[in-house]
Amino acid sequence: MAIQPIRIFGDPVLRATAQPVTTFDKELRALVADLTETMIDAPGAGLAAPQLGVSLRVFTYHVDGVTGHLINPDLSLSEEEQEGPEGCLSLPGLRYDTRRAYGVVAKGFNMYGDPVTVEGTQLLARCIQHETDHLDGIIFIDRLDTAQRKAALKAIRESDWGSGPAPVVKVSPHSTFGSAR
Ligand code: NI
Repeated sequence: MAIQPIRIFGDPVLRATAQPVTTFDKELRALVADLTETMIDAPGAGLAAPQLGVSLRVFTYHVDGVTGHLINPDLSLSEEEQEGPEGCLSLPGLRYDTRRAYGVVAKGFNMYGDPVTVEGTQLLARCIQHETDHLDGIIFIDRLDTAQRKAALKAIRESDWGSGPAPVVKVSPHSTFGSAR
């Protein structure tokens, strides 16, 4: 296990669609271990494999004292929504209120290839939605309304890590299950 560097906003790997995991081997388990250790060290509530430069559909979470991981997640979202502060280890220091489904049922696999279901509300649901977005190349600022997204991009430009070329903000082509504004 090793703490790995976290990719920062602007890195193309964060905009790629991650590939489904097909081989549940030792390498995958090493990836889950690295994600877990890097997330705990950061510290963060979740970390997705693309944030370590690995374009695979894997994420870890650490919410309310529970640490876990999920592979090839498939989400069912509640109609009820929540709004609350959200941040991302790939955008250090930025936090914005983000609208999410209040509850989620996430089906997927553990690192041994066994089918698992993770069910959560509030912060865990927010985390699972945020991390699954990463696997589709979506970053939480894509979910903000226009004014807030503008503010976020300004904050990125003014940050000491975001002074590179202007990033392209992708408006999600993915279904938001009716939760888009
Ligand atoms: Ni993130």
